[in-house]
Amino acid sequence: MKAIVVDAPGKTADSLRIAEVPDPVAGDEEVLLRVHASALNRADMMQRMGGYPAQHGASEVLGLELAGEVLEVGSRVRSLSVGDRVYGLSGGGGYAELATLHESLAMPIPEGMSYREAASIPEVFFTANTAVRTLGETKPGERLLVHAGGSGVGIAAIQIGRLIGAEVWITAGSAEKCERAAELGAQVTINYREESFADVVRERTDGRRVDVILDVIGRDYWDANLRSLATAGRLVLVGLMGGAQTETNLGLILSKRLRIMGTVMRSRPLIDRAAITRDYREHLEPAIVAGQMCPIIDSVFPLREAAAAHQYMAENRNFGKILLDCLDA
Ligand SMILES: NC(=O)c1ccc[n+]([C@@H]2O[C@H](COP(=O)([O-])OP(=O)(O)OC[C@H]3O[C@@H](n4cnc5c(N)ncnc54)[C@H](OP(=O)(O)O)[C@@H]3O)[C@@H](O)[C@H]2O)c1
Repeated sequence: MKAIVVDAPGKTADSLRIAEVPDPVAGDEEVLLRVHASALNRADMMQRMGGYPAQHGASEVLGLELAGEVLEVGSRVRSLSVGDRVYGLSGGGGYAELATLHESLAMPIPEGMSYREAASIPEVFFTANTAVRTLGETKPGERLLVHAGGSGVGIAAIQIGRLIGAEVWITAGSAEKCERAAELGAQVTINYREESFADVVRERTDGRRVDVILDVIGRDYWDANLRSLATAGRLVLVGLMGGAQTETNLGLILSKRLRIMGTVMRSRPLIDRAAITRDYREHLEPAIVAGQMCPIIDSVFPLREAAAAHQYMAENRNFGKILLDCLDA
């Protein structure tokens, strides 16, 4: 089959190229898929650069999520058959014509949902679901601040926050991303290039501040995040695009009784990823099927142009998901 391989781990996206590699073989509890679409994630960029190697036992091929058609089923697979349309969080192997997926992670694609829409859902909706609902415990009427509101994770978090009935605030780096986030339901949008979000939060809440923050920036927002949280506020750290090392005023965490949590998706054991998959299917998929929430696709690149897709993501140009059309290798 054709798949994207990393020539020599490097900072630039041109280390990615299409190559002929051996077909994957489905294990007893797995299905083999003809991949129709896969989607990019920031973790893929880190893996490409050599800083985030594939998990033990996972495919070396990049690509954490995919949608495709079942070509073969393993001997112990009970719930899926050849020809089924499925999507899921693969843990690796998505940038390819063929991939394997464990039965417990493979979700039937709902009627009316395209392969592309399906491929753009798992990583960001699972992550935002874990951050906003499971860890953040966001409640109706609470204020939820989502950083990088135009990112894939941010877009999912805005919609989940609104579904819960929270008041959703976002930060983003352009007027256009702020406008698009507002169209998705964000009630307060802050262009971080023009205003300090901590100042806006303090002023517009009369000092009451926000209850939950979904943060993907880390160091650069750390102090401002702690200042922006209300008493008993929750900070859920999901990404570190602004750096990982920081010094902090621990006093604020004590005096405000803050809860600080982190989450990752890729390195979790299968049993966790299966539980997160079930939680999404129970709580969010029905809302997507009913049109209350939607995945946002920014752009689609042919599989062979994965390098250009990575470059586009590195330039922060996307609002929503960047997909690879794996039928166009
Ligand atoms: N923990 C997990 O399980 C998990 C899972 C998935 C993703 N993530 C993390 O979530 C984050 C978002 O991922 P994604 O795939 O949704 O990203 P994405 O769609 O590529 O969007 C990222 C956006 O973040 C903004 N940004 C980038 N660097 C920034 C900085 N230093 N300061 C402020 N804003 C910055 C940019 O938008 P602007 O134009 O607004 O600046 C950029 O377009 C990443 O850190 C990723 O690693 C974590």
